[in-house]
Amino acid sequence: MSYNRLAGRVAIITGGGNGIGRAYATRMAAEGAHVVIAELDKNAGEAAAEEIRNSGRSAIAVHTDVADEASTLALAEACRAQFGRIDILVNNAAIFASVQMSRTYFDEIPIPEWDSMMAVNLRGTWLCCRAVVPVMKERGYGKIINISSGTAFRGPATRIHYVTTKAGILGYTKVLAREVGQFGICVNCIAPGNTASEEEPDPLTLELRTGAVSNRALKRVEVPEDLTGAAVFFASADSDFITGQTLVVDGGATMH
Ligand SMILES: NC(=O)c1ccc[n+]([C@@H]2O[C@H](COP(=O)([O-])OP(=O)(O)OC[C@H]3O[C@@H](n4cnc5c(N)ncnc54)[C@H](O)[C@@H]3O)[C@@H](O)[C@H]2O)c1
Repeated sequence: MSYNRLAGRVAIITGGGNGIGRAYATRMAAEGAHVVIAELDKNAGEAAAEEIRNSGRSAIAVHTDVADEASTLALAEACRAQFGRIDILVNNAAIFASVQMSRTYFDEIPIPEWDSMMAVNLRGTWLCCRAVVPVMKERGYGKIINISSGTAFRGPATRIHYVTTKAGILGYTKVLAREVGQFGICVNCIAPGNTASEEEPDPLTLELRTGAVSNRALKRVEVPEDLTGAAVFFASADSDFITGQTLVVDGGATMH
């Protein structure tokens, strides 16, 4: 699906080499954006960018660790050097599936894993915004899309460190929206539901994904492409007077 709604825009997708991020990157490129895939997984980032270029669209990969300030500054600089602008930032990178997390109870999570969860999912989002907002300010225009999770609303037992970061993203989105609105920058958030983002899911993951169907109004497994329309909406001029908002995209599991 493509209507060129992002023609000429430069869009950074963090964690765009795998899973849902790859779907955001593919769809935004199909909508005419120059896509920059900022990935820790170098091979996955380059493969995703190459696939987009092979489809006749524009993409580059920049090896990035969102938890590292120097790496995020280098990312913004690479975009400025290549395209002279940044219009869209999707803060999708997280410790979730490709970088595995413990799915255990609160007192069984290793302390170093708690710290790295905060460093990537929360600090990484903040550092990317710190690096990119100055470039957006130069043109008085920008679209930042943060990624939370339906788990932040439901609070399911286990993996409290992950859910805590995703709840943090909800507040982060509101504060940043108020601070950067004066520069023409919109900040919104997508909260995906339980999504089959793995290329080759193991039997347990498959069970987890299909098990989520019974709690939904719409009775099927959620796939990465279910999320791309919301991302294009928040990235496009169609949402120019919307900021500080979170859209839950989960087939009606969470209603608020
Ligand atoms: N799949 C779901 O059920 C689900 C549900 C709710 C929210 N989400 C959120 O959607 C986003 C994508 O999830 P996914 O299912 O595609 O997971 P995923 O693990 O496949 O994708 C995350 C990507 O981030 C990258 N990454 C990890 N650490 C990084 C770092 N330090 N710097 C740069 N890149 C890094 C990984 O290499 C990977 O490509 C995440 O923010 C996740 O929390 C997913």
